[in-house]
Amino acid sequence: MSAQAIKTSAQERNFLKKLLDIYELLPQQSTGAAIIGRIYSELLSLIIKELTCKAGSLFIIDSEDGSPVFIAVKGGDESLLGKKLEKGKGIVGKVAITGKNYLSKDASKDPAWMGEVSSNKGFSTSDILACPINYGDRIIGVVEVLNKKAGMFNRQDMRTLSGLSRHIAVFMKHLIDESEQKKFIDMQAKLYELSKMLNSNLDTRAVVRGAMEAIVSLVKAEVGSLLLVDKEKKELFFEVALGDSEKTLKEIRLKFGQGIAGWVAQQKQPIVVNDTAQDERFYKKADEKTGFVTKNILCVPVMSSGEVVGVMQALNKKEGLFTKQDLKLLTSLSDQVAIALENASLHEELKRTFVEVVESLAEAIEKRDPYTGGHTKRVVKYSLMIADEIHLEAEEKDRLKMGALLHDVGKIGIDDSVLRKPAKLDETEFEKMKAHPSIGADILGKIPQIKNIIPGILHHHEWYNGKGYPDGLSGDGLPRIARIISIADTYDAMTTDRPYRKGLTHEVAIAELKRFSGTQFDPQFVGAFIRAFEKQKLVPAHP
Ligand SMILES: [Fe+2]
Ligand SMILES: [Fe+2]
Repeated sequence: MSAQAIKTSAQERNFLKKLLDIYELLPQQSTGAAIIGRIYSELLSLIIKELTCKAGSLFIIDSEDGSPVFIAVKGGDESLLGKKLEKGKGIVGKVAITGKNYLSKDASKDPAWMGEVSSNKGFSTSDILACPINYGDRIIGVVEVLNKKAGMFNRQDMRTLSGLSRHIAVFMKHLIDESEQKKFIDMQAKLYELSKMLNSNLDTRAVVRGAMEAIVSLVKAEVGSLLLVDKEKKELFFEVALGDSEKTLKEIRLKFGQGIAGWVAQQKQPIVVNDTAQDERFYKKADEKTGFVTKNILCVPVMSSGEVVGVMQALNKKEGLFTKQDLKLLTSLSDQVAIALENASLHEELKRTFVEVVESLAEAIEKRDPYTGGHTKRVVKYSLMIADEIHLEAEEKDRLKMGALLHDVGKIGIDDSVLRKPAKLDETEFEKMKAHPSIGADILGKIPQIKNIIPGILHHHEWYNGKGYPDGLSGDGLPRIARIISIADTYDAMTTDRPYRKGLTHEVAIAELKRFSGTQFDPQFVGAFIRAFEKQKLVPAHP
């Protein structure tokens, strides 16, 4: 308890007893904001009763910027709750700075009185009494009472309020600690969620979007965005833009040095701009295009190995202005985002290298079979057309692409006499050729990382009705990527010239797909393939 708690009058003792009654309202655990608000409100009612007046307000002093914030309002305009007063302005602002009591017998004639802030319709302020609420040597709040019921506030009232304020201080300090603790716990929980997400194996885009959402909520901003660096052009582009303007913003690119984000990228320095209208670095065109009004910005570089790889920004603090603490928080989070981006780009690079290796492998195999040049690439293309038409998820689409690339990899184990035969295969030769899906699956089955593409390779010659090979799978039992590759593969085989026959036209090949729809092919995917051709108006490879 504060050293100020010395002599206690009978009135104060009585007040203290009632204070303790209010204190009983506090639950043992989890003190929510609503209950704390109710307690402040009860506390103010008690003060108003003790001072026999008509109205009053209770303020807390924002520890970050020193401005008074309404935490309880009685008899006046309750919509002021939560609002901030400008530091040092008005009677309350003065009391918060000087720490001295203030008595005004006629508010309307008092130059310090800011009637527009505290009065509302139907309430006219006459006399005012305001006292600081001190805890130790810090002013943690201000109590203001208005319009004494009988007569006017006098020196005695001032002494009374001042005496009560010593007890209010202890009470309030406790509540502040409670809510600070709650805020701290909330923030820790959010940070924990964020770091869990950043370290997850989700798709990079989903991770950075989720991270931005969490960050915006942590710094209490309206929206936020992540811009990435285009190294070659030395420009920034929007990777994530929360809010309604993402599409428009994605068209915008900022040069290094252009706009606040460009400045941050160039200077490698974080910045808080609390009045964008007054800052000449601010790039107005983005707001003009989107219709969004940027009032203030918190902007930090995302650095990886000393290089700027992006810029993170939070726009428009929901209440008040961005603080140094917000900036500190955003800066520390930007390091985590940088690591997530780095991991993602390593992963992407690895994936790209892998696809390149697979592509050249597929190409090398194809070279053995001189009659089907470009077959693999076209099967990939047709398979992806179907995938896009049926909106296949990214992960399965990746598997489909790899499966299509490698579907004939087993031909590596087929004799040249069969594979390069410039004529139609006889029955024995065809039986040998039919081994290629199993050979391919055997070879690739040894690589654990690509296990999930094996079904596409092993079953690309199965039929939808179960009459294909090697396993005679049918319907939904036949892996989806195999059903897709089968259509792409057959269409290309039909439309390609062979030494012993000319390729069919696109129209005839489509008619064949339709004819075998439901027997050899999954009708659903035949339909998707035809629609994709119609939509893209693609000129078939071999008309
Ligand atoms: Fe094949
Ligand atoms: Fe094939």
